[in-house]
Amino acid sequence: MEKRSYIWTVPTRLFHWLLVVYMAVVFISSSEEHLLPIHTAFGYGIGLLILFRILWGFLGPRYSRFRDWPLNFRELLHFMGDPKTPYPSHNPAASFVMVGIIISITLTVISGVLTYGIQEGRGLASSLHSPLFKEMELFEEIHETLAYLTLFLIALHIGGVVIDLLLHRERGVLKSMVTGYKNIEAESVELTPFQKLLATLFLTAALATPFVALLNSSPLTESLYEEEEYSLIHPSFANECGACHTLYPPFLLPAGSWKRIMADLENHFGDDASLEEEERRAIENFLVQRSAQNSTKEAAFYILKSLQGREPLAITETPFWKEKHSSISQESFKRARSKSNCKACHRNIEKGMIEDREIRLPKG
Ligand code: HEC
Ligand code: HEC
Repeated sequence: MEKRSYIWTVPTRLFHWLLVVYMAVVFISSSEEHLLPIHTAFGYGIGLLILFRILWGFLGPRYSRFRDWPLNFRELLHFMGDPKTPYPSHNPAASFVMVGIIISITLTVISGVLTYGIQEGRGLASSLHSPLFKEMELFEEIHETLAYLTLFLIALHIGGVVIDLLLHRERGVLKSMVTGYKNIEAESVELTPFQKLLATLFLTAALATPFVALLNSSPLTESLYEEEEYSLIHPSFANECGACHTLYPPFLLPAGSWKRIMADLENHFGDDASLEEEERRAIENFLVQRSAQNSTKEAAFYILKSLQGREPLAITETPFWKEKHSSISQESFKRARSKSNCKACHRNIEKGMIEDREIRLPKG
């Protein structure tokens, strides 16, 4: 039986398992729009974790420092020929995968913050929304590609651990990520007071970040957009067009659609919504001024894109609306009374806000 050595200190292990949990949360929450607040909150948490790990790679203890990793190709080739060679920290193949994972996660987080800012006008990169909103799809694709690259590297990492377990069960590699000890002849590590302080600060911050980000009023998620009080901005629009149904924000249809709707208010979805000509014209101008073409909002961008020049009479006729609501059950729409009753599910829509965090399906 070989000697037992202390290799992975508490911060290194805590970092590893927090990262596992946070990564699971972001991958699960990436699938649905209304989970975006959770996705971004834990994404920021991953950002702090990875920043900590990079600092730890320079200032941390032996074995966790990058310079203690056998990161060169000659050693990698040698290891491939003789995979039984013992390494107290990572073996050469694992070291390359670790560096790959750290770089890939860093780029994924950065592209995520950019996408969030450019697409939603929220968070640390929200100032890039106005100049770059037309590129929102490009940034989302870059972010997704990097996320898949990260997944691929994680799969390699897990594959490596499995092979290692098969080859050297006796070294206790998997157990070492829990206890910190490997059954290997090497010098045990100890943390300096500075390292303890650094780790405490960063890991506490990484634990707190998702919860701070989930609060409405933090710069991590704050929106560029404020609520619009249509009853103050344009009282007759708010009164007339909110009398029978949800006050639909003007940016949800193209100018041509509003002109068509306003041209035939006598036959408005089976109702007579006709107005005095002066008021009709004032409302039409307001709608056209703030139509989808003149908005940088995500919904406006995708509605226009999905219409490809068509000008339907209803938001619920746009391919974008249909696609976004395709997974919602008939039961939910019944509880909302009608699919056109947006405010049943989008609490602040009458103030121009279609926020992911405010989507609620009505309960029976
Ligand atoms: C007299 C009642 C009434 C008034 C006033 C009225 N509407 Fe409507 N509107 C309806 C009805 C009924 C529908 C069909 C959807 C529904 O059942 O809620 C509708 C639907 C719509 C839709 C399509 C909603 C969708 O499903 O995407 C738009 C857009 C719309 N109205 C705009 C306006 C605007 C703009 C004004 C103000 C000039 C206005 N409406 C005033 C009764 C009204
Ligand atoms: C029965 C509830 C319900 C009703 C009614 C409803 N929605 Fe939604 N809406 C949702 C849900 C849930 C989502 C999120 C879907 C997802 O997670 O991808 C959504 C998503 C959206 C989005 C995309 C949000 C984004 O960030 O991309 C827009 C825009 C939207 N709805 C507009 C409307 C409008 C306009 C109406 C009324 C004409 C409406 N919705 C009616 C439940 C509803």
